[in-house]
Amino acid sequence: MKIIVVAIFAAVGFGSAAEAQDLTGAQMFRQNWTSAETASDGLGPIFNEASCHACHWFGGGARIRVRRDGEVAGAGVLLRHTFVDGKGDPHYGVQLQNKAVDGVEPEGVADMSALRVADGLTRFLASVRFTSGPGRTAGITMSLRAAPALDSTALVAQVSAAAIVAGADSQDKNKDGISGRIHLLQVPGKKPKIGRFNWKATAARVEDQVANALWFDMGLTSPAHPAPQGECTTRQHDCLEASGSQSPDLAVDFDGNKIAGLADHVRSLAVPPKVPEPPQSFADAKCSACHTPYMKTEDGGSVALYSNLLLHNMGEGLTSYGGEGSASPTEWRTTPLVGFRGKLPDHRYLHDGRAANIDEAIRWHGGEAKTSRDAYIALSASEKLKLTSFVLTLMSSMPVPPQGD
Ligand code: HEC
Ligand code: HEC
Repeated sequence: MKIIVVAIFAAVGFGSAAEAQDLTGAQMFRQNWTSAETASDGLGPIFNEASCHACHWFGGGARIRVRRDGEVAGAGVLLRHTFVDGKGDPHYGVQLQNKAVDGVEPEGVADMSALRVADGLTRFLASVRFTSGPGRTAGITMSLRAAPALDSTALVAQVSAAAIVAGADSQDKNKDGISGRIHLLQVPGKKPKIGRFNWKATAARVEDQVANALWFDMGLTSPAHPAPQGECTTRQHDCLEASGSQSPDLAVDFDGNKIAGLADHVRSLAVPPKVPEPPQSFADAKCSACHTPYMKTEDGGSVALYSNLLLHNMGEGLTSYGGEGSASPTEWRTTPLVGFRGKLPDHRYLHDGRAANIDEAIRWHGGEAKTSRDAYIALSASEKLKLTSFVLTLMSSMPVPPQGD
């Protein structure tokens, strides 16, 4: 594989463990990784972006612009392609990688467009121009995922497992029409873990998601994901070849220390927010049944989060068509509402970024949240404004991370 030497590694060559160890978490987050054949195999063979920063701009999320002709330009949006049960495409795997190192064809490019639907809402459509392989497989579903702002991640990490368990009501015993459930992640040979990160609560710890991101989005290895071929499947021959000797004792790109450094940086992005009291309509419309204002933390305190971290059926309007783990296509984790995303330019809401503002995000709620949405729609214009302004205050309750070195 071709070596592209970047300035910071010029003296010793990329991948020198000692050199990369010296990078701070913030620097690793910003670093544009490259492919290499030295200590580790480096970026790729296939990947989405070469840095965390490309998708999580200064710790924020996807930046999405909808043009007047309906075309959507976005940085930080991924395409998942799976069967309904969550199994990946037999050729392309679970995620479309739109970039590749020299000599390997990328899988394809997702074109996004915005479709106006009823009530002035916008839905995002994706179509893929495959640039390698057999093209679309029958039965494969496609769904977009916007990179979330990393503004609630640190707080979510602090919530006690007992508090998440206490909020679950999978059988809807209290008969309020809302039945949140825990996303239990099965780990072969180990106790299942409680998922709390990502749109469908598919990761249990910040470190786990850092390792997932490195491997799925960038083709970089770690102890949790040591396979050098990254997300290329056994059917993708050029990709497998390019991943090199695939020697099982090949050093991983990111050892435990580097993963911890990145995770610490991610956790440093959020600070405990000071939040105002919600307006009466927040409780009356049952927003608080899912967006639980405070959650108990592991250290016995509590944190304003506005999420119960549980999965809810949000109706067909928000389906992903394919499931993930045990989360069904219509199930999503209640999104914490505190953060700094409300202050970010080109930030949009919901799992694929289809909602331009908070009003639209609420009007997409369905399934278990349908009664809540209808209660919102029934509010007077001024009460609606009061509620959406309150949510925007929550989403602007943290300082935006510094944009510089
Ligand atoms: C190609 C775009 C892309 C890149 C590159 C990327 N991410 Fe993400 N990130 C996403 C998307 C999309 C999600 C949501 C995934 C999901 O819901 O399954 C996400 C989710 C996360 C989350 C979960 C946040 C939460 O609170 O739920 C963390 C943490 C994270 N990424 C960290 C990182 C780090 C660290 C890197 C670099 C090693 C990185 N990401 C690289 C797109 C990206
Ligand atoms: C049944 C549980 C439930 C109820 C009730 C509920 N929500 Fe949500 N909310 C969710 C889930 C799950 C998501 C994530 C959906 C997605 O991204 O597809 C979400 C997403 C949101 C978002 C978008 C956040 C972002 O950053 O993308 C906002 C804003 C929001 N809810 C506000 C409200 C308000 C206000 C109410 C009350 C009128 C409410 N919700 C009622 C579960 C609920």
